[in-house]
Amino acid sequence: MIDWTDRHCRYFHRLLSPHARLYTEMIATGAILYGDAARHLDFDNSEHPVALQLGGNEPEALARAARAGQDWGYDEINLNCGCPSDRVQKGAFGACLMSTPALVADCVKAMRDAVDIPVTVKHRIGLDYDESYGFVRDFVGTVHEAGCEVFIVHARNAVLKGLSPKENREIPPLRYDVARQLKRDFPRTLIVLNGGLTDPGDTLAHVGQGGGELDGVMLGREAYHRPRVLSELSRRLWPETPIPGDEAVVRAMMDYAGRQVAGGVPLRSVVRHMLGLFNTQGGARRWRQMLSDNRLLAANDPALIDAAWQVVANAAERRAA
Ligand SMILES: Cc1cc2nc3c(=O)[nH]c(=O)nc-3n(C[C@H](O)[C@H](O)[C@H](O)COP(=O)(O)O)c2cc1C
Repeated sequence: MIDWTDRHCRYFHRLLSPHARLYTEMIATGAILYGDAARHLDFDNSEHPVALQLGGNEPEALARAARAGQDWGYDEINLNCGCPSDRVQKGAFGACLMSTPALVADCVKAMRDAVDIPVTVKHRIGLDYDESYGFVRDFVGTVHEAGCEVFIVHARNAVLKGLSPKENREIPPLRYDVARQLKRDFPRTLIVLNGGLTDPGDTLAHVGQGGGELDGVMLGREAYHRPRVLSELSRRLWPETPIPGDEAVVRAMMDYAGRQVAGGVPLRSVVRHMLGLFNTQGGARRWRQMLSDNRLLAANDPALIDAAWQVVANAAERRAA
């Protein structure tokens, strides 16, 4: 998610969910091929499995960017066919690619020829107000023939004119049945459901482990705003894997922030992703306030994380007493 799932966010989320697959923000091919590739591609080893999401529409450029991603150590390359922003539409990529499935197939083929890791696609279920199933079925069919075996389905249409990106994540209705139908029509593909998933029980009901038909689930906003949902899902999916408790997560993030600050990264860039850690618990408001207080952040001292943690821990003690 652009501006959200940067490397600091992914490091944090990995602590909360040892096995979930993490995705980068969408990175345009030009940023990798002609920009500061290290700035966009660097990640911590602990992030594996981690996928690089690309934005672009030229097979050759996508192939070169995918190759760069593989060389950098990514585990998967994902092509964005779901973003409806004006900027992305001007570049003629993101969601508007769904109207040219043959081009997406060419892009996928070129990327697959360039790398050995999986090439996957994230897409919507329709464009504008066309709700015909045939549109997305033909899109998936064409792209599947080009060798894509994993489709991450954001199960609502993208409205290209008249809705902002935010509205495009809220107004077009969610239609999970379309993802299920895709799974029935393309049983050899992996269909991963995305869009509006929040409650762990309801989320897992979509996949095999919870009695559902689909192969995976992707969480966006809930994972960002209430990151402990990642731990709750992990405990159910991989009960044998221990998940660090609150204090261990806080200590690990303090160590990480210390290393990042020593390397010139502002403390704010790390802690801004942690504001939701205690959401729905006592002390959550004070935690958020302290970690977003400009005056406190100005010192650039990772001890701020510890100070905020003391507030949360004291609130928990008071509740227990
Ligand atoms: C701030 C923000 C940035 C996003 N950036 C991307 C992106 O770079 N690539 C992408 O595929 N989706 C992006 N999305 C969409 C999410 O990945 C997801 O598809 C959408 O929010 C619906 O899922 P959710 O209800 O679990 O959040 C973004 C969403 C938000 C809120």
